[in-house]
Amino acid sequence: MTIEAYAPGRVNLIGEHTDYTGGLVLPMAVQLGVTITGERTGNRVVLESDLQEGPAIVELDVDDPATAEPAWARYVAGVVAEARPTHGFIGQVRSTLPVGQGLSSSAALEVAVALALGVQGTAPEVATLCQRAEQRASGVPCGVMDQMTSLAGVEGHAALIDCTNLTVTPVEMPEKAEVVVVDTGEPRTLAGSGYADRRGECEAAQQIVGPLSQASLDDLDRLDDPVLKRRARHVISENGRVLAFVNALAEGDLGAAGRLMAASHASLRDDFDVSTTALDEAAERLTARKGVYGARLTGGGFGGSLVVLAAPGAVKVGTVVRPSGGARVRTLR
Ligand code: GLA
Repeated sequence: MTIEAYAPGRVNLIGEHTDYTGGLVLPMAVQLGVTITGERTGNRVVLESDLQEGPAIVELDVDDPATAEPAWARYVAGVVAEARPTHGFIGQVRSTLPVGQGLSSSAALEVAVALALGVQGTAPEVATLCQRAEQRASGVPCGVMDQMTSLAGVEGHAALIDCTNLTVTPVEMPEKAEVVVVDTGEPRTLAGSGYADRRGECEAAQQIVGPLSQASLDDLDRLDDPVLKRRARHVISENGRVLAFVNALAEGDLGAAGRLMAASHASLRDDFDVSTTALDEAAERLTARKGVYGARLTGGGFGGSLVVLAAPGAVKVGTVVRPSGGARVRTLR
């Protein structure tokens, strides 16, 4: 029996560095993704990839995914370690997702592997399994947004995810706007340690003011440490911007949506300290173009990509992404 599992990548429109404190995010699954085709058989997982060197060969009792080689096999090993399937898998990985360009190719790979192996469960259950796989594979204490989006994508819609209870509300995307992902080409070198530091700072702030997802800007007065205050101000204000952005889309006010993206970028730059000069300059350059409503860094930051909301055809660089359906698995014969 041949199994085919597909999982899309994602881009985050707004709601950055809010997922791991139970906040709001507004990503969308894109038309690019990872497809795995093969058979559930044998006693190890063996995958060849059309984009990456070397097969991934993973024993079912793998215990340290972070040491698997080649490096992409770590994500496969992470899922195997978390799912503990009782059978192996032999197959092929095909990807239309560029690696390392901020479209979450690793989350798409994890979700496709989980579905190919036959992992069952609700989107939040499968997503958190894949999140743990990513954390074990990469050593980065990432949130659950990327995996949730890949599973819960809805054609033509972005996904408003409340990361406290992982409920998803589809939000219709306007047809008169285009979403473009522009890679700065800058490697995300500090992503690992910087991400963990930010997460730690948010947790320290929560020790004092309680869950940031419930906090208001007035609560910032209770934070004496200027760094924790800035981190918390980003998260609290960003949660507000996600809701304001959803309202702007509902009203068809793309100008207001774009200004919220600019405010998100400024907050990530000035309060959360995850931007870089290359990202700031590219955001400014793109925003100045005719027909561009807004641009901001997307994903973890420390380099990487920008997401741009623009009139169709206004941005000549980058990858146009379309709001697309989520992951699926089927039996071919
Ligand atoms: C990375 C993580 C996500 C999220 C973003 C920042 O993409 O994988 O969980 O925290 O950074 O919003």
